[in-house]
Amino acid sequence: MKIQKINMKTSNQKEEIQDLIKSIDELRIPQHIAIIMDGNGRWGMKHGLSRSLGHQQGVVVLKNIIKSAKKLGVEILTVYAFSTENWSRPQDEVTFLINLFEKVLLKEISEINKEGIKINFIGDLAPFPENLKEVIKKSESVTKNNKEFVLNVCTNYGGRQELVRAARQLAQKSVAGKIKPEQIDEKLFESELLTCGSVNPDLLIRTSGERRISNFLLWQLAYSEIYITNVYWPEFNEGEFLKAIIDYQSRNRRFGGIESLPNESLGDSYTI
Ligand code: IPE
Ligand code: IPE
Ligand code: MG
Repeated sequence: MKIQKINMKTSNQKEEIQDLIKSIDELRIPQHIAIIMDGNGRWGMKHGLSRSLGHQQGVVVLKNIIKSAKKLGVEILTVYAFSTENWSRPQDEVTFLINLFEKVLLKEISEINKEGIKINFIGDLAPFPENLKEVIKKSESVTKNNKEFVLNVCTNYGGRQELVRAARQLAQKSVAGKIKPEQIDEKLFESELLTCGSVNPDLLIRTSGERRISNFLLWQLAYSEIYITNVYWPEFNEGEFLKAIIDYQSRNRRFGGIESLPNESLGDSYTI
């Protein structure tokens, strides 16, 4: 009850969203957005609630952001749900999160499927309980042919672990004589990543003001634009999401190059 009240849109907010939508350049919508959904616990505490309620409200927000992303024409959303380091939290919180993943998936999978969303889980699922693994496997297989939108959920995911795993697989293939070390290039390396086959994120959003990537997509974020907001994930909403995209659209992505300039702009050079 309390949570829903916090989440209700006022007519002012609706107007603000309409104005933000007008500022969006439909031709420059990021194809792939990655999100570090952070600040659930602090949001709960700030509202005199529990960290767990923060996680629950985080799920409500994720559902809204998926809808909004899909409506805007974003094709892929990759969200950080549980890191390899999150096991170090108190056992109660870890158990709560694991149960929440299962409950939410069971409840939402038919809607996800109806919406044409393909859901993938990225990370090492081995340590999760059999029930959860089963639900994950089922939701991936039910939605595997959906073409409207891709939702990647990073669970027990760590960027360093992913890179080590890729290196190990390549080493094994090399020892088995399937590849030669000199064949290893970026393309082959990328093919061993858990995200293999996907385009890299154009935009990374991190909520809660932390200015770090916390072991998320270390390879894939090499040239992503980064947007950090102080807003905690449970209070993130469509308006905040639109602001992130508008900010992204103001960026000049150079990928190490320079903007094309007239020839003479290099000017005279010093004699070295
Ligand atoms: C992010 O919110 C969700 C997970 C890591 C599972 P946090 O739980 O990290 O919330 P804060 O950062 O402690 O407020
Ligand atoms: C990153 O948030 C992981 C997820 C959002 C799932 P954390 O809260 O775990 O990151 P740190 O500890 O602040 O770096
Ligand atoms: Mg956190």
